[in-house]
Formats: sequence, C-alpha cells, structure tokens
Amino acid sequence: MELQGKVAVVTGAASGIGLAAAERFVAEGMSVVMADIEAPVLNEQIARLQAAGAPVVPFVFDVSVAEEVAALRDFSLATYGAVHLLFNNAGVGGTGRPTWKTKPAAWDWVIAVDLLGVAYGVEAFTPLMVEQGEGHIVNTASEAGLCTTPMLGAYHAAKYGVVGLSEALVMELAGTGVGVSCLCPELVNTKIFESARHAPAHLGLPKPEPVSMEALASFMKTTAIDPSVVAGNVVDAVKSNSFWILTHDITHVRAKHRNESQQRGDTPTMISTSGAN
Ligand SMILES: NC(=O)c1ccc[n+]([C@@H]2O[C@H](COP(=O)([O-])OP(=O)(O)OC[C@H]3O[C@@H](n4cnc5c(N)ncnc54)[C@H](O)[C@@H]3O)[C@@H](O)[C@H]2O)c1
Repeated sequence: MELQGKVAVVTGAASGIGLAAAERFVAEGMSVVMADIEAPVLNEQIARLQAAGAPVVPFVFDVSVAEEVAALRDFSLATYGAVHLLFNNAGVGGTGRPTWKTKPAAWDWVIAVDLLGVAYGVEAFTPLMVEQGEGHIVNTASEAGLCTTPMLGAYHAAKYGVVGLSEALVMELAGTGVGVSCLCPELVNTKIFESARHAPAHLGLPKPEPVSMEALASFMKTTAIDPSVVAGNVVDAVKSNSFWILTHDITHVRAKHRNESQQRGDTPTMISTSGAN
C-alpha cells in the first residue's frame, strides 16, 4: 500500500514502538491518530510533534474496552474521513509470575489488553477497510507468540492468540484489498517492562522499578533494538504487503527449535538464548 496522503491509527502511541511508528508514518506523509491510555505522556508527544508541523491528533482510551475502540474508529473517521492503516499495538508486559500463581485479575488484565484489545481493533476497523477496498492492519504480537519461556504464561497466551487471530484474518481477507501483518519482536528498548504502571489498582502489582535494558539484553543474550528500527520494519511490511514481521534473526532459530522439538514429541523445556536446549 502507498502511504503518502493516507490515514493511520496507532494504539499505544504514547511510548515505545507505537510512538516510533507514529513518527515514521508522519515521515511517510500520513496523518495519524495517536491513541493511548496514558493521557499526559500522549499529550506531551502530540504537542512536540504538532509543533514540528506533524498532522497528528490524540485520542485517550482504554484498548481493553470494546466501546472505546469503536469510539476511536468513529473519532478517526470524523477527523480524517478514512482510515487506511491500523497499527493494533497497545500492550502490557507479563506479570513475571509462574502461570499457576497468576491470579484471575492479572489474567483478566493481560488478556484484555494484549489479546482482546487487538480483537476489538480488528472488529471495529476491518469492515470500513473492506468497504473502501483498501487498507492494512498490523497486529503487534511478540516473539512470545511463537516460542515460550517460563514465568510469562498469561503474556504467551495473549501473544500466541494474536498470532493465531492474525493468521485467520489474513486468510479471511484474501482478495478484499485489505492486508494483514503480524509483528513479532524480540527485545526492543521501550517501557514495556514498566507496564505495571497501567495495572488496575485492585491487582496490587508493585510499582514498577525502572528496568535497565542493558541488563535485560545481557540476560537474554540479545540486542535491544531501537523502536525506530521496528517502525521501519512495519513500514516495509505494509508497503510490500508482507505478513510476518520478525525483527531479530534469533526468533527464527527459536521458532524452528520449537517446531522440531514438537515433531520429535519432546516435552517443552526452556529454550536457551541460542535456540538450543
Ligand atoms: N519492547 C519489547 O521488547 C517488546 C517485544 C515484543 C512485543 N512487544 C509488544 O510491543 C507493543 C508495544 O509495547 P512497547 O514495547 O512499545 O512498550 P511501551 O510500554 O513503551 O508502550 C506501550 C504503550 O501501550 C499503552 N497502553 C498500555 N495499556 C493500554 C490500554 N489499556 N489502552 C491503551 N493503551 C495502553 C501504554 O500507555 C504505552 O504507551 C506491546 O504490544 C508489546 O507487548 C514489545
């Protein structure tokens, strides 16, 4: 899809990958609705971008509430008259607890934001793209939607879900003029590890400590890439109508290892950083 002069809607646009993507979409000549739950940070970014002449508008909402996602669609249409690109990207990290110790309220939160938020975006925006015979939806999953590590059960459940619904969607939309991509990054330098800042108070999650990306990268023996690199990968995928967006080579190695071990009938074990057990 050509991006110049088109309209994008980005969820989770106040920070990280969503913010970098919004900036990149503007650079490609798009108008952008930037949607997020974190109003002060979103408004700061909007003010900065508008001061530089960018055609961006804010929308404060909670992606886990279907009515608010529908309101985002209505606002976007009322503002720009069309939507050509939906970047379904808002998300929160896992709770860092064993799956069997994850409380129902924590499951509700992670699944509602990371999985249902994407599903609600698809439900709200796809009909208008099909109607106009043109559009592209990018759903943010994760490497955590392709292979598994311990302590992230709810996050994996949501992200495997995003991969599955995206695969179904691309098959369903064949021939409609609406493309689908599924973004599966490994480590990106963002505030995802401070997601508990958004957790409903009743979850009682501790206030997040600032996390050192260097320490994480060293633990994961990987490179924490800049969100602008991911934004570039997203733009390339939309322009070339490519489904998979894998940002790190190691993800191919780990996914292959998972598939091969499944074919052998092995019980899953922690996939080491190199992809081999
Ligand atoms: N950073 C990584 O290493 C990494 C790796 C794989 C996948 N991801 C995924 O990338 C996406 C973007 O995350 P990021 O890394 O940029 O983190 P981030 O925390 O910097 O940005 C996430 C944004 O989503 C917003 N958000 C959270 N809950 C929301 C809600 N209920 N409604 C609306 N907005 C909400 C936040 O306010 C924030 O602006 C997420 O879906 C995440 O799971 C990130």
